[in-house]
Amino acid sequence: MSDLLVKLYALPALEPAVEELKKKGIEVKRPIGPEKLLVVEWVREKFGIHWASETDMCFSNKPISVFVAIDTLKENRIVGFACYDATVRGFFGPTGVDPSYRGLGVGTALLLACLHDMYNVGYAYAIIGDAGPVEYYKKTVNAIEIPDSSPGIYRNMIRKV
Ligand SMILES: CC(C)(COP(=O)(O)OP(=O)(O)OC[C@H]1O[C@@H](n2cnc3c(N)ncnc32)[C@H](O)[C@@H]1OP(=O)(O)O)[C@@H](O)C(=O)NCCC(=O)NCCS
Repeated sequence: MSDLLVKLYALPALEPAVEELKKKGIEVKRPIGPEKLLVVEWVREKFGIHWASETDMCFSNKPISVFVAIDTLKENRIVGFACYDATVRGFFGPTGVDPSYRGLGVGTALLLACLHDMYNVGYAYAIIGDAGPVEYYKKTVNAIEIPDSSPGIYRNMIRKV
């Protein structure tokens, strides 16, 4: 799968995406240190050990480069997450939404929260590494494919045997 490039200086606004979710009781926030193990464990349970490791790395960044979506009507349970600067600087991802919360705009709000944060800390472009749902990124943030970018930085990764 290819890497994608996103212009951070021409992003859709974040507020409407976040406000729309609030009407459904879902809030997007940057987690804090005491929440780290809960977030990482949730990612491991839902999306596996590689994405949990990357999420863990992001809690060492200042600012913490993770955003989560929580359902305030269901005891603040985590329903989605998104990271940037996890494995290398300038990369967005990993990200994922609980299957039962997909299609509500959670993924887009988390994506925009991360990308706006990247712009605010000084990046002009973001790279979505090894993008799975390419059409989703094209549609939400006008991402374009980077030619000859596969396999990218995740080549030769150690896997559980
Ligand atoms: C990709 C993912 C994060 C999207 O989350 P989501 O909360 O369902 O996304 P949204 O509700 O914000 O969707 C926004 C739009 O993109 C579309 N979309 C969502 N997932 C899509 C996909 N895989 N392919 C194409 N379009 C997609 C939605 O239909 C929606 O369109 P609409 O506005 O016309 O209704 C989620 O499907 C997921 O967790 N997938 C598994 C993990 C994954 O692949 N992560 C990305 C790794 S690079």
